[in-house]
Amino acid sequence: MRYVALACIASTLTLANLDAASPAEVRGKAGMVASRSGLASEVGADVLRNGGNAIDAAVATGFALAVTYPSAGNIGGGGFMVIRLADGSVVTNDHRERAPGAAGHDMFLDDDGDVVDGLSTHSHLAVGVPGTVAGLLDVHERHGKLSRAQVMDPAIALAREGFLLDDDLVGQFRRHLPRLERYAASRAVFTKADGSPFAAGERFVQPDLAATLERVREAGHDGFYRGKTAELLAAEMQRGGGLITLEDLAAYQSVWREPIRGTYRGHEIVSMPPPSSGGVLLVQMLNMLEPHDLGGFGYGSAAVMHRMIEAERRAYADRAHHLGDTDFYPTPVATLIDKDYAAGRFANFDPTRASRSDDIGSGDVPNESPDTTHVSVMDAAGNAVAYTTTLNLSYGAKIVVPGAGFLLNNEMDDFAIKPNTPNAYGLLGDEANAIAPGKRMLSSMTPTIVLRDGEPLLVTGSPGGSTIITTVLQVVMNVVDHGMDLSDAVGKPRFHHQWKPDRVIVEPFGFSPDTIAALEAMGHQHIDAIRWGRGIGDANSVMRRDGELLGVSDPRGAGRAVGF
Ligand code: DON
Repeated sequence: MRYVALACIASTLTLANLDAASPAEVRGKAGMVASRSGLASEVGADVLRNGGNAIDAAVATGFALAVTYPSAGNIGGGGFMVIRLADGSVVTNDHRERAPGAAGHDMFLDDDGDVVDGLSTHSHLAVGVPGTVAGLLDVHERHGKLSRAQVMDPAIALAREGFLLDDDLVGQFRRHLPRLERYAASRAVFTKADGSPFAAGERFVQPDLAATLERVREAGHDGFYRGKTAELLAAEMQRGGGLITLEDLAAYQSVWREPIRGTYRGHEIVSMPPPSSGGVLLVQMLNMLEPHDLGGFGYGSAAVMHRMIEAERRAYADRAHHLGDTDFYPTPVATLIDKDYAAGRFANFDPTRASRSDDIGSGDVPNESPDTTHVSVMDAAGNAVAYTTTLNLSYGAKIVVPGAGFLLNNEMDDFAIKPNTPNAYGLLGDEANAIAPGKRMLSSMTPTIVLRDGEPLLVTGSPGGSTIITTVLQVVMNVVDHGMDLSDAVGKPRFHHQWKPDRVIVEPFGFSPDTIAALEAMGHQHIDAIRWGRGIGDANSVMRRDGELLGVSDPRGAGRAVGF
């Protein structure tokens, strides 16, 4: 079955304490980093202590995650960074993977036009041209203060000298071993020398990855996209029937893009534009919800959940039809984030009844020219960074590049590989997100900064495939509508709807049976407590309050916030 029911989210999560108290807030004055890996957060905080800014810290944390959190931290994948600079400007860096030059519209279909099972997720064809190294280097070069060595050395040391594995990572390795073991280089990294699984407390050393990172430290972009690293990657592609060539690698560039901007109850929302759908959908949903007194109804009430579900249904329907890489397809971004458009889209909202996804098409818009992981950082100067990065599914394609020591993504599955055929997250798509050479596949990653009075208030984002956008929506609403402090805003139970399949998923034990019954009475027929995992999202977030920086790692993951 192609639709893996968000399995990657489940597999990246370890703590089952959704019913426990909200996570503790870490407090600081000068700098704060929240990520899925405590070791990586410490790297980021050390960089801040050593005079780096939030951009240096985010880049250093990003490289460290490639070593300490290999299921999603990466140099073989891609990501998006939203940066608010101390001077008040906001920029975004898109280092999403691209389809190789030889990719074709129907490359994952057989002669009968049917999808070939697994080809877009677990094969060499599943791999998009990686963007992470280009993005991290470009961001650092343009906005960092420290040298390249200062932001890369900690990651290199963690790879070369190793670090002690904890239960979380050992459990992940074991769960993914059956697929990783198919590739000798992957087996060599993720098992001990004798082929047996690692145990907690053992040292995890990655010499090939260290050498690759050293080449990047010495030669910058060329250390990855040309020379030995590129040759190793291209050779593995040839060996395994993949498409990425030396030319594809040499041609890769990250792109600086204008952020998506919206407003919500006196706050400014800045988030990621296409090729992510995240910023557009977040702002669109907030626009639909703004006229409603959600704070008055109260967190977790059926009235609020009904309104959110209906906004989600309409926004995800638009995603399926309208959104794709704007460099290739005329995506109507300005219309989709317009408040009047949202009002029109919500005009048929019935406060007493659920609508049916089959009756909700995508909105009419006039033609217009044209195991993921999240890091949040703030520094004392007012720089703030929201950074989400991914290989797509946990451990990506499960293919380690022999001799180079890093995992390759399986991001090609984020394209609409066949019209109206669900991807791994059950998301549908059409021509806007069809495969074309050099095109970037549509993403749901939603690195987001919320500003109040022009100053950063909240930095957030999450993994979770299609549930990323609704996770960010809920964190933002918890702060803005419900007045929660950060630990509650991140810790409180979540739910999700994505138009199709037409069902609401809720976290187990998250919402009262009375609320669920009220939603069912309105006609929300399929309300499934997710059984395949322990939670939706992993929103490591940072907030500024009364001159203090607060950091929270989501209780659904095993991350840590570090501040001082
Ligand atoms: O870009 C996207 O939307 C997906 N490739 C994200 C994958 C993801 O969040 C996996 N983690 N749970």
